[in-house]
Amino acid sequence: MKFELLFLFLLFTPIAHGKLSKEENQKRVDTCGKNTPSIWALLYSQYKYLAIPISPRHVFLLSPIGGEPTLHPWSDGNHIWEENVKVDTGCKNGSLHVEVPSIFYSHLKLFPLKRFNDTGYTPFQPTMALLLHFCDTENTFKNHALVLEFEKEFDVDFPCLPKEDGVKIGDALNATVVTDEGTLANWPLEVSELDEKELVMKERGGYPRANLFGVPLFHEMNKKWTFVGLSYELSKIRFFRMSQYQDIFCEWAGICDTPVSTTTTTPIPIESKPTTAVANTEKNENGKKRNGIEFILLLVSLFL
Ligand SMILES: *[C@@H]1O[C@H](CO)[C@@H](O)[C@H](O)[C@H]1NC(C)=O
Ligand SMILES: *[C@@H]1O[C@H](CO)[C@@H](O)[C@H](O)[C@H]1NC(C)=O
Ligand SMILES: *[C@@H]1O[C@H](CO)[C@@H](O)[C@H](O)[C@H]1NC(C)=O
Repeated sequence: MKFELLFLFLLFTPIAHGKLSKEENQKRVDTCGKNTPSIWALLYSQYKYLAIPISPRHVFLLSPIGGEPTLHPWSDGNHIWEENVKVDTGCKNGSLHVEVPSIFYSHLKLFPLKRFNDTGYTPFQPTMALLLHFCDTENTFKNHALVLEFEKEFDVDFPCLPKEDGVKIGDALNATVVTDEGTLANWPLEVSELDEKELVMKERGGYPRANLFGVPLFHEMNKKWTFVGLSYELSKIRFFRMSQYQDIFCEWAGICDTPVSTTTTTPIPIESKPTTAVANTEKNENGKKRNGIEFILLLVSLFL
């Protein structure tokens, strides 16, 4: 009996890792962009990369691995990826994005930017990594974007990721840079060219002495901060356009673009939702009731 209870408890323990559940994604959509987005950093040899939380468990950044072939051919500088070590990337099987084997990302350590100098601070270590457009042979960018997943949920302010970013040529946008002093500053830019994959910008005035590696471009739309682009090349000030990643974010991370202004919430069948309880404690009356019912059903089933 005790054993059974324990077993059922484990079965119904909320899954705290993996992609966002439908409910978690809805919560993300409801809360995204209200505050200015949090910024994290990744120290990689002498470089400081910025990393942008896009959900309580996912972070997006310019990849320090699998990048520019002349710099580090399919490697992260320490491990050769495809040349000496045989790794089946799955590219030949028709994949476009590659889930990175853990040896290539397990040493990546991330910090909230404000804790960067805090030597006593334990950095966060990702548990999964996806290298976007890694297999795209037409890709002239040579740099790739990376999504990292964490097991633990973080208290972060993340931007919205709309499918339509509404950006047009001539729009004035500020990129967010980190100065040498570790403070955030605006870099005023203007959209000069765009297509579905990238935004090419020109400067509107000088830029602050700053870290310009993997710099985010946020845009305030309907009073919400949205994530529009991430810089990957500075000679021409080019940014990956975030909207191109919508489908893969949804498929891999459960970060899906659900319409913001739904008036009624569709009731969710009890039996399909063993993972509902996930951390959204307050204000979720339905969730609480549902869990209560589940628990009663469980107890009943024990006596049958
Ligand atoms: C690619 O296909 C081969 C042959 O079917 C298979 O053995 C391999 O596991 C696949 N690789 C990935 C990463 O899916
Ligand atoms: C960019 O930043 C400057 C100052 O930091 C601010 O005055 C300006 O309104 C911002 N522009 C946009 C488009 O947000
Ligand atoms: C971090 O340390 C550097 C050098 O020691 C210092 O210049 C900078 O102000 C510090 N930044 C923060 C955010 O504390």
